[in-house]
Amino acid sequence: MVDEILIQKVADLLHNSRHLVILTGAGVSKESGVPTFRDAMDGLWARFDPQQLATASAFKENPKLVWDWYEYRRGMVRDAKPNPGHVALAELEKRLPNVIVITQNVDDLHEQAGSINVVHLHGKIAQTKCFYNCQGDPTLVDVSTLTWDKESGPPPCPHCGRWLRPDVVWFGEILPAEALDAAHTASALCDVMMVVGTSGLVNPAASFPLYARSRGAQIIEVNPQPTPITDIAHLHLEGPSGEVLPRVLNAVLERA
Ligand code: OAD
Repeated sequence: MVDEILIQKVADLLHNSRHLVILTGAGVSKESGVPTFRDAMDGLWARFDPQQLATASAFKENPKLVWDWYEYRRGMVRDAKPNPGHVALAELEKRLPNVIVITQNVDDLHEQAGSINVVHLHGKIAQTKCFYNCQGDPTLVDVSTLTWDKESGPPPCPHCGRWLRPDVVWFGEILPAEALDAAHTASALCDVMMVVGTSGLVNPAASFPLYARSRGAQIIEVNPQPTPITDIAHLHLEGPSGEVLPRVLNAVLERA
């Protein structure tokens, strides 16, 4: 159980912040039933390593395997609902002057909870694009309008006939430029950064807290486990975000 004194300290920082960045990772969606990247997977997919599947070369080698894996993840995300952690973050955005959510998550649970200012660093799993972006980057395609033989693998691009793929960033790929710019600018400007549910292992997202701190920001971490970010965080709330963030929100509301 996180100490109430720490919750109050975090609420003070948030209440006084002028530019708040909330950097999130898979942990914030865990209590919505979406497994984190480094969690063991269930059943059929247990023997596959996400880091081996989430690459362009894995897709080229076995497009059906990678497409089916994303269909499985898409199904989990489709059924998921925002948890109290997402809701508390959306409420903070309404109450505090400038709040931006920078997420590594490919689900839309922040938006479903009511967050408006959300930057997706790693794309959106619900979207599909041409593997070759044949009509420009990204060439998004609405798959619900397509019919194809699902046993043969991913649907073909209606423009060029080659494979469609999920609109997510794979290992080794560069991040969408606009999202990266927005994240950089916000990290440089913020006076408080709250880092929620990320292992802090994947760059460039993992570098933002250090960058923000070097520019004078206070760093808050919410994570039941220590991470590389813990060392540079001014405050660490060591608990699940779905429990901790509603308490933080209540403490902020008491100051209003
Ligand atoms: P990870 O799966 O690496 O880490 C999830 C973090 O969430 C861990 O530090 C957990 O301790 C923490 N956690 C677990 N349950 C939590 C809870 N209830 N509340 C808060 N935190 C909790 O996920 P990410 O850091 O998001 O990239 O991974 C970063 C990126 O690496 C992903 O976006 C993905 C991945 O491989 C790409 O796909 C490009």
